[in-house]
Amino acid sequence: MQTLTLIQPDDWHLHLRDGAAMKAVVNDSARQFARAIVMPNLNPPVTTVAEAEAYRTRILAALDPALSFEPLMTLYLTDNTPSVEIVRAAASPSVHAVKLYPAGATTHSDRGVTDIRKTHEALEAMQQQGLPLLVHGEATGDAVDIFDREKVFIERTLEPLMRDFPELRIVFEHITTSDAVDFVLSQDPGRLVATITPHHLLINRNALFKGGLNPHHYCLPVVKREEHRQALLAAATNKPGRFFAGTDSAPHPRHAKESTCGCAGIYSARSAVELYATAFEQAGDFTHFETFLSTAGAAFYRLPVNTATITLVREDWVMPERLPFGEGEELVPFRAGETLRWKLQGANA
Ligand code: NCD
Ligand code: ZN
Repeated sequence: MQTLTLIQPDDWHLHLRDGAAMKAVVNDSARQFARAIVMPNLNPPVTTVAEAEAYRTRILAALDPALSFEPLMTLYLTDNTPSVEIVRAAASPSVHAVKLYPAGATTHSDRGVTDIRKTHEALEAMQQQGLPLLVHGEATGDAVDIFDREKVFIERTLEPLMRDFPELRIVFEHITTSDAVDFVLSQDPGRLVATITPHHLLINRNALFKGGLNPHHYCLPVVKREEHRQALLAAATNKPGRFFAGTDSAPHPRHAKESTCGCAGIYSARSAVELYATAFEQAGDFTHFETFLSTAGAAFYRLPVNTATITLVREDWVMPERLPFGEGEELVPFRAGETLRWKLQGANA
C-alpha cells in the first residue's frame, strides 16, 4: 500500500466561526492539523487582544478532548486600530498576526480598512514589534473586474506598502494568480510569503459554471483561469519555503450558499490534507509536500515545528454529500459526493 508519512501539518488560514457552527467544524481541523491561524472575521470582528483571547477559550472548549489543537489567534485591522493594541498583541502568547481586509472585499469585511493610509500607525507598530500582517489581497470597487482584483491589489496596495514598511513581515493570503506567484518570488523571503488553498490548486473558474451555476465553488478570491491554477501548483510543489498551506476553509450554511445571492466560502477543512495530497499527486512530485504543509509556515511565524506525524494512505473514499453544521443547519463540503484518492489514517471514519 502506498503511504505518505509527514510531520503533522498546520493550517495557516482558517475560518472557524463561533457557537454551534464552530463546534460542528473545529474537530475536522483538529483531526489533521496541530495548529491553525484563526481568522478574526466574526460578526462583529475580533479587534482586540481581549476578544481574541476569549474567542480562543471558546475554541478550546469546543474541541474533542482526545485531540490536541492550538488555535493561533489574529486581530482584525480597522481604520482605528490603535498602536497600543498592536503592542498588546505582540506581547500576548495567543495572538500571532493581524489581518487586513480591504473594506467590502469579502464576508464580514465591512469594518475593514477603507484606506491603507489610515492604518499607518498600526502598521508602524507591527513593523517594530515583528508582528506579521496577513493580507486579503483584492482591490475593491466596481471599477475593478473581479478576476483582476488580485493583480490590481499588488500594484495599488501591496507594492507601495512594502516600500513604505520595509521591515514589515507579510503573508499574502490565499493567492490565486501567476501575478501573485511572480510577485512573491520577486521579494525577500523573510518579508513576503503566501498561503495557497487546496481548492485553488484543484479547480479553475470552469468549475463555477460546469453544468450550471455551482455556488459551492464560489469563494473569494474567486477561482481563476487554468493557467493560474498551473502557476499555483508549480509554486506549491517547486518553491519550498515561499508558499505554504492555508486552507481558507470558510463554512457557510447550505441555504446561504444555495441562495439568490450566495455567500463566498468553500468548506475544505473536512479533508484538507487529503486534498493537498491529491494536488501534489497531480503535479507528480511529493518532494516538498512536507515543507509546504508542515515546516515552511512554522518557520515564517517563528514557531517550533510539530513533533507528531500523520500518515496518509492511498485509498479511495467518498466525501459525504452533507455534514451537520449546528442548530439544524447543513454544510456542503468541497468535493461532496466525490471519490477522494488519499485518506488520512484514522480520520473521516
Ligand atoms: C471567507 C469567509 O467566508 O469568511 N470567504 C471566502 O470566500 N474565502 C472570507 C475570506 O477569507 O475572504
Ligand atoms: Zn479567509
